[in-house]
This record gives sequence, C-alpha cells and structure tokens, in this order.
Amino acid sequence: MRMLVTGASGLLGLNLCLMSAGQHELTGLVNRRNLQDAPFTTLQGDLLADGAAAKLLDQVEPEVLIHCAAMADVDSCERDPLTAQAINAQVPAHLAELCARRNIRMVHISTDAVFDGQRGSYTEEDQPNPLSVYGRTKLEGEQGVLAANPRALVLRVNFYGYSLSGRRSLAEFFLNNLIAGQPLKGFTDVHFCPLYVADLVDVIFASLASGLEGLYHAVSPECLSKYDFGRRIADKFGLDGNLIQPVSVNDGNLLAKRSPNLTLRVGKLQQAGVDLPGQAEGLEHFHRHFRHGFPELVKSYAS
Ligand SMILES: NC(=O)c1ccc[n+]([C@@H]2O[C@H](COP(=O)([O-])OP(=O)(O)OC[C@H]3O[C@@H](n4cnc5c(N)ncnc54)[C@H](OP(=O)(O)O)[C@@H]3O)[C@@H](O)[C@H]2O)c1
Repeated sequence: MRMLVTGASGLLGLNLCLMSAGQHELTGLVNRRNLQDAPFTTLQGDLLADGAAAKLLDQVEPEVLIHCAAMADVDSCERDPLTAQAINAQVPAHLAELCARRNIRMVHISTDAVFDGQRGSYTEEDQPNPLSVYGRTKLEGEQGVLAANPRALVLRVNFYGYSLSGRRSLAEFFLNNLIAGQPLKGFTDVHFCPLYVADLVDVIFASLASGLEGLYHAVSPECLSKYDFGRRIADKFGLDGNLIQPVSVNDGNLLAKRSPNLTLRVGKLQQAGVDLPGQAEGLEHFHRHFRHGFPELVKSYAS
C-alpha cells in the first residue's frame, strides 16, 4: 500500500513509520526535525504553508494518509492558540477535503482531551467539552475531518512510547527519572487509558484492514491514574517506585487546565473486531522493546 504519514518525526508518526517501513511503500512528512538514515522516504514540509497539503498529495499520490501531525503539547497550544487552531483544526479539515476529492483513505488522529473529564467512561456518543486550547482545536479538527470526508477514520487516542527526543511521552518521563534515581511526582487524580504506541500502530492497521469509517475510541480498555501508571512502570523495570510522590494535579503547576477523568469506553472498536491490550500486555511490550535497545534506535534518527 502506498502510504503517507504526517508527523513522522513525532512520537506516533515515527513509531508507525518504523514499524511499517518494510511492509508498505511509505513516505513520512517531517517539519522542523529532519530524520537521518530513516528506513523510509522522508519529505520535509510545513503543512501551514500555502498550498503545501495539495502539493504533498500530488507528489506522493498515496492510497492512504495517516495524519499524525499536530501541535500536541498542551501547554504550547495555550501559549500559541492561533497556530494550534491552524494546525489542529484547519489543516486536518483541508486534508480531509483533498482526500475525499482524490479518493484517498484518511486516518485522522484525535485525542481523549476533547472531554472535560468530569465523569469519565465516555463513549463516542457523549458530548465533548474541551477545557484547553489543545482539546478545543483537536475537537474542531475531528469535526472538520468528518464533515469534509465522512468516510475518514477518526481515532481518539492516548499513548506512550519511545520518542526521537527521548522525553516526549509520560512513560519516558517516569522511566528517565526512575533510572536516574530522581524523585518525581505522579498525579493520583488524573485517570487515563494509555496504549503502548506499538500496540496503537497495530490498532490503526487493524482498523484500516477492517475498513472502519467514522469516530472510534482507540485506547486501552484498562484505565488507571497517572501515579499508578508510574508505579506499574517502576515495577515492570525493577526500579524504585517509592521515588514517585503521589500528588494532586492541582500541585502540578501546569499552564493548561487538565481534565481529571479521561477514561474512554472502547466497546465500539472491540465490537468491530479490533483487539485492544490491557496495561500488563502494553507494559510488557514497552519493556521488551527497551531490552532490545529500541529507545536508542529511535533516538539515533535525530539529525
Ligand atoms: N502523545 C499523546 O499521548 C497523545 C495523546 C492523545 C492524542 N495525541 C495525538 O496524536 C497525534 C500524534 O501526537 P505525537 O505525540 O506523536 O506528536 P508529537 O510527538 O508532538 O509530534 C508532532 C508532529 O507534528 C509535526 N508537525 C507539527 N506542526 C507541523 C506543521 N506545521 N507541518 C508539518 N508537520 C508538523 C511535527 O513535526 P516536527 O517535529 O518535524 O516539526 C511532529 O512530527 C496528534 O494528533 C496528537 O494530538 C497524542
């Protein structure tokens, strides 16, 4: 399959490209961070530049577009809402329109942060109510995609893994500090359902293979607090979990307001036949990749 992945220097996009490079004819779009010696074709381009999206699709002529590029740092969005709006809301809608016209299958990546987290256990039918610029712009993005291209697949995700910088994901934050023997904080009152990114990649391809269209929650069926997630990582890696201090998110000194309970229900995706691993399985996969030197391999593509 000829495939275009945007955000190929990002946590999800890079893992996706590395996992599927041998199996698909793959082009990854990067923006400010170029990759060196990547085992797939890379293109450099800013999706905010005039005409960039159409030019990219003309150049690659993909059968499938997996759109992972975004301003995904919650506090950066708060600082620069205009850019967040452009890249998280306008670009996806524009890409969706272009894909509809060219008969390109589009997968758009959205987020659990579209909900306010007051209740948790959200289904795809529940009314979103984002608290942050990030959540608001991502919600506009998913709505824009489905309005322009109802056959697109929109996945609301949450994931962790090994990144180009070695410090993009929450799991890397826990792991880096625990390995260094540094005390750190874990929120006991923020709940989420993260997938290991390699498992999310499998979920994306399984969803594509099943021909799914529309909105789906693609997170782990097993949810936990961020503190408990840190403790599970410590246990899995044989590190000292007592270094993690249990605290409230209100003690975190964060710029953007965080939704406390971002647990999502995944019955719709499971009923469609897509397997979603629990935390033990995901952490086992995460740990196996660590033992095999995967974090160093991922970082080695930084130019
Ligand atoms: N990480 C999470 O836990 C999480 C949770 C829920 C949802 N998501 C969603 O999952 C997706 C992937 O997130 P991630 O964590 O992998 O993101 P990330 O690591 O922050 O990477 C963002 C990617 O977007 C690219 N990008 C940003 N602005 C661009 C522009 N103007 N033109 C072209 N490319 C641009 C970046 O390119 P350069 O770095 O080369 O500039 C980078 O490759 C996003 O849609 C995000 O909202 C993430």
